[in-house]
Amino acid sequence: MKDLFFQDNVGKPMDRVDGRLKVTGAAKYSAEYQLPNMAHAVLVGSTVAKGRIKSIDTKRAENAPGVLAVLHHLNAPKVPGYVQASHPTEPKPVGQPLRVFFDNQVYFNDQPIAVVVADTLERALYAAKLVKAQYDEEKHATDFNKQVKEAVLPTSAKRNPKHPLNDYTRGQEGAYKSENLKVEGEYVIPTEVHHPMELQAIIAHWEADNKLTVYDKTQAVVGTQNAFAKDWGIPVENVKVIATFVGGAFGNGLHTWPHETAAIMAAKKVNRPVKLMLTREQMFTMVGYRPHAWQKVGMSATPQGKITAITHEAIGQTSSYEEFTEATLQQTRMMYTSPNVTTRYRILPLDISTPIWMRGPGEATGAFALESAMDEMAHVLGMDPLEFRLLNHTDKDPEKNLPWSTKYLKEAMQMGAERIGWNKRQLKPGSVKNGEWLVGYGMGVGTFGANRGRAVVRATLYPDNKLVLQCATTDIGPGTGTAMVQIASKNLGIPAENIVFELGSSLYPPSPSQGGSATVASVGSAVHAACMALKKKLTTMVAGNADSSFKGATVETLTFKDGALSATNSPSTRLKYGDILKQQKLTELEVTEESKPDPEARQKYSMYSFSVHFAEVQVHPMTGQIKVTKLVSCADAGTIINPKTAGNQMIGGAVGGIGMALTEGTVMDHRYGRYVTKDLADYHLPVHADAPNIEALFVNKPDLINNPNGTKGIGEIATIGVAPAIANAIFNATGKRIRELPITPDKLI
Ligand code: MOS
Repeated sequence: MKDLFFQDNVGKPMDRVDGRLKVTGAAKYSAEYQLPNMAHAVLVGSTVAKGRIKSIDTKRAENAPGVLAVLHHLNAPKVPGYVQASHPTEPKPVGQPLRVFFDNQVYFNDQPIAVVVADTLERALYAAKLVKAQYDEEKHATDFNKQVKEAVLPTSAKRNPKHPLNDYTRGQEGAYKSENLKVEGEYVIPTEVHHPMELQAIIAHWEADNKLTVYDKTQAVVGTQNAFAKDWGIPVENVKVIATFVGGAFGNGLHTWPHETAAIMAAKKVNRPVKLMLTREQMFTMVGYRPHAWQKVGMSATPQGKITAITHEAIGQTSSYEEFTEATLQQTRMMYTSPNVTTRYRILPLDISTPIWMRGPGEATGAFALESAMDEMAHVLGMDPLEFRLLNHTDKDPEKNLPWSTKYLKEAMQMGAERIGWNKRQLKPGSVKNGEWLVGYGMGVGTFGANRGRAVVRATLYPDNKLVLQCATTDIGPGTGTAMVQIASKNLGIPAENIVFELGSSLYPPSPSQGGSATVASVGSAVHAACMALKKKLTTMVAGNADSSFKGATVETLTFKDGALSATNSPSTRLKYGDILKQQKLTELEVTEESKPDPEARQKYSMYSFSVHFAEVQVHPMTGQIKVTKLVSCADAGTIINPKTAGNQMIGGAVGGIGMALTEGTVMDHRYGRYVTKDLADYHLPVHADAPNIEALFVNKPDLINNPNGTKGIGEIATIGVAPAIANAIFNATGKRIRELPITPDKLI
């Protein structure tokens, strides 16, 4: 694995600060806390997809051993924040429009209709099976293809003509249709499910009537805190959210969900802490998913390979009670020079649960269609797909007509092409063989907004030269804590082993939700600001000391290194930070610094991360078996703080892309509106054997317009563009263009 990180980076390839805790099992995840007198809750789901609960029989469950309560719409504690709202509501980043146990309405199959609380998990599980409901069933609509004509413009777009989800036209609308050299195709992505290793779980504990603590699996500590404070009508500071460790999430922790409120209600009712962990089956229906999507791309080009027009339409499914939308068409608007671009986005409400952002949301879906069409167009032109993309490369954002803050996509392309051995690729599909196997090469480009939000970090320096940083962000796996330690180490001149970054608690200063690849840009900037503030304070202390040889010193005239400062022109004047505190008789030195994106910079520049993925596949012509034999993922993600964890993240994202391309997808029995894929045996996540050889490379050039550390995001671009790279490689191997994911062997024979 070592040579995966061969790039010479600004940051060092440091091991995870919490790696040991994680691999030894010492790290505590939400469901692992043991609270005194804790009870266990199990959800009961509806068995119809639409209708009303006519009656619910809980007698047998209530009489079962160890059962403390059975809650449902007729007896659940009232949630003050549940007000009569007209459905559907607009999407919200936090909060759950599905008001669990509010009334007898059923919106989707397996919707929670009751929660059973017992003294042990086993007793709760048993009793949950005894709850029986009768329904007034209504006709449900879950089949995307049957309902597709009902697709609508999202409310958010209807209300605001400037909203990016509105129809977009640059140049002439639908211009490709009248061109000679063109391609046109329809693309389908099935519903995919996040399925992180850790199941969604919560422990709810009312410490007083108006004081709630939750140990909760979430990517949104502050968002969750606000949502529950609002629901229960209690002050925000009375809600404590703990999410110290999160075992993967991929987006499903960016929302609050019905099971969380069910646990909180249960804890209130039985007046004990209550633990509720979803089953793997419930992960399909209760915590979001990547929506099934239909897309159509039309593209035209000149014989020389200049794109003349692109039209890209998309329809994504949502629930009947909440409008989920995503930026499926964003890449199409800004990636290539095409003078004519039309995009059209619609959503299709169905009797299913609400989707949520998943692994490079929207853009990953959109890039599958766009980058497949790019490959198809190059094939029609008889051009190398890399050459075709370089020819249509943009040096400014053609949508916003702004310069990029930074863009090193060409550099990334060059790195990746060399590493995969792109020159082995033949224009004619099926030309390269390895024994019986057909060998193919494909590429796909990805992009995602280089987002940044407001974050606050508290930094405390101690006389023993230790530094403690605190922020409410989570670390869902990318190595957030490790990167923050490295940023502080570099900017304050303290060895990493003397720094602790505490996270995952609402007791710490606020951070945005950990989503949209923005954590290092947001929280890392606040860490940077805190380090600058500490330097300033230390400087003021030494400069004001009459005995000191630092009299009159400024931050600029000092060097901060190895936990000490010295006059740059006189290194022998070295003074340890801790000794400065001791001189001042301080037991600690604390700063709290806020950092926000610069709105002016965001108006002057267009900010994106870019990636390009190169895939080598082998396809067996008889069986249709597909092997990804090599994948090279290259990113322009600004400064790479830690090439080891960043490389891990790229590899993880690529595995998600392999899943999207080849294995992942749910199947629903539309007679009942219920998934038949219920576990990880039916829903195939890629395992090691599916992902044998992935390399991550970084351009590693800073974007100082975005933030002082020069970073752009990694998480999303690690996945966006991988699925089309694989689909394109399969075309190059077989001559078969598969436009419906996942590409299973049956589609190739
Ligand atoms: Mo990500 S899909 O923003 O967790």
